[in-house]
Amino acid sequence: MTDRYAVIGNPIAHSKSPRIHALFAAASGQDMTYEALLAPLGGFAATARGFAATGGRGANVTVPFKEEAFRLATRLTGRARAAGAVNTLVFSDNEILGDNTDGAGLVRDLTVNLAVAIGGKRVLLLGAGGAARGVILPLLAECPAELLIANRTAEKAHTLARLFSGSTACSLAKLAGREFDLVINATSAGLTESALPRLSFTYAPNALAYDMVYGKNTDFLRQARAPGARAADGLGMLVEQAAEAFLLWRGIRPETMTVLTALRGT
Ligand code: ATR
Repeated sequence: MTDRYAVIGNPIAHSKSPRIHALFAAASGQDMTYEALLAPLGGFAATARGFAATGGRGANVTVPFKEEAFRLATRLTGRARAAGAVNTLVFSDNEILGDNTDGAGLVRDLTVNLAVAIGGKRVLLLGAGGAARGVILPLLAECPAELLIANRTAEKAHTLARLFSGSTACSLAKLAGREFDLVINATSAGLTESALPRLSFTYAPNALAYDMVYGKNTDFLRQARAPGARAADGLGMLVEQAAEAFLLWRGIRPETMTVLTALRGT
């Protein structure tokens, strides 16, 4: 019987995940389907349980349900616990395993696709919401010289820094005069198309500015390009977090570069 997987979110119609997993499955010869499921707000658990009850083997979870998926899981991986959120579920007879592949996807996009070593680098993470929290542990595992979490509301950044030893925190307003090799935008400003405050740090020579949002010329990327920093959006992270989920479900790491090229071409 063909194995069924899905991505659950709200909204979900424009998700690229069905296409990404269809390409992975075709390239690796896996007998599986992957569909997009719209869950009503407040109806995530029922949608996920219903999918599992009708033969679903696993699901990706996207906005706004990652915290609800964390609560639904009966067992959590260490990286899901650290993230406080789940983006990948594995359904079996006796448990619902919750994992989080977002941070691993980001690190793989940075280190493999973009060839940026994180070890020894001065890293600035902008934002202190769920998206930021989800990537801190995998970033720290790469042993940066510094991981500074900066947020408009400083207290939220300090709360995260207390959770993750090895990181430090400040407000966006306190960045003047600082220099970074890698700056990652994990704020939702690009998604909501709201402007960031004027960012006052400087980019080191050969620095990379990375926006976790994809397919948009965000204010963050515009501000980074002005002084000549190399800039990347989060499409590679999307493909790599999907590959990590696929590995968890199927035991095979799919090749990602051709998928990324196909997505960029359309
Ligand atoms: P997500 O799950 O996408 O991280 P979130 O938990 O609502 O969403 O967090 C949004 C993050 O983006 C927060 O760090 C928020 O800053 P505040 O904590 O000060 O609200 C940040 N953010 C959103 N819009 C922003 C903007 N226009 N300028 C600066 N920071 C912004």
